[in-house]
Amino acid sequence: MPLTRTTPKHLLPVANKPTLFYLLEQIKDANISDIGIVVCPETGIKINEAVGDGSMWSAAITYINQPQPLGLAHAVKVSQGFLGEEPFLMLLGDNLIDCDTDELIERFEAGSFDALITLKEVKDPSRFGVAEVDDDGKVIHLDEKPREPKSRLAIVGGYVFSPKIHQAIMETNPSSRRELEITDAIQKMIEMGGRVTSYHLKSWWYDIGTREGLLEANGAILNVYLKTDIKGSLDKKSKAMGRVTVKKGTTISGSIISGPVSIGEGCRVKNSLIGPFVSVGNGVVVEDSSVEHSIILDGCHIYGTKVISNSVIGRNTRVKAKGNVSGVIELLAGDSENIVL
Ligand code: G1P
Repeated sequence: MPLTRTTPKHLLPVANKPTLFYLLEQIKDANISDIGIVVCPETGIKINEAVGDGSMWSAAITYINQPQPLGLAHAVKVSQGFLGEEPFLMLLGDNLIDCDTDELIERFEAGSFDALITLKEVKDPSRFGVAEVDDDGKVIHLDEKPREPKSRLAIVGGYVFSPKIHQAIMETNPSSRRELEITDAIQKMIEMGGRVTSYHLKSWWYDIGTREGLLEANGAILNVYLKTDIKGSLDKKSKAMGRVTVKKGTTISGSIISGPVSIGEGCRVKNSLIGPFVSVGNGVVVEDSSVEHSIILDGCHIYGTKVISNSVIGRNTRVKAKGNVSGVIELLAGDSENIVL
């Protein structure tokens, strides 16, 4: 909030691309072309508009309605007709995970497992599903958000399942937050004699449901994947340092762009300092300002502000400093706001 009033969180951009598109690319990389997206009634239409029929990823997309947010295992339950008796990969739409999905599937298939879960060691496991595993990576026990975690291994939003998960879900009861937890269903599977293995993630993983997560994901993706590509124009007084992308129709004058920075089409940047770790959408105007570690969405106008940092600013929002504003400003602004500092 407030960004998700107008944009489903899965469509908020990192490095100028909706987060959901990264997941669709990962699914494509695993050679899966039959994709179901579980949507809720409030945001389903917007996701459908953005993703379309899946031809951008050479895939067929089926939209599956989950009428109420009753948990991840419930999301699988409403997808049962689509999934049939096939094994499947499940990715959580609000998680960005740096992993090769085909590696997950290979591991799952090689051992004829009933489930594979992705794990990462974290400092605060009680915020997540937590796993106990043996030396071979076999999962012995799972708990959803335990008060006293038995390990530091958090469940990350990437799973592979055999159709046996459907039976386990049928035998699972709602949790204290009144959701059918996928963690509980996998635990049920273990109790039913199912073979559950794990994949230990060494690289990054971000939950994009918070400003911090979204900004960290933006930084990580700019850091790893951004390539220098300048299609717009920079005048003689401007300088682009490090890896910088500037799309066509964007003009930069009297400014320093300190990469990694991604700037969209048709923007105007004047007498400003942008970067590092900044994504600027299309049609944005930045004048006499400084922006670092931030995501600026399409159509924003930013005038006369000294250091904007750790900020996410929604579409068509105007930020203007009146008089001398000193110090660093952190903003989380929705669409079409008018902010006077
Ligand atoms: C869900 C899962 C949890 C997992 C987490 C990863 O939690 O229930 O096991 O660790 O995603 O992001 P939720 O986001 O629903 O709280």
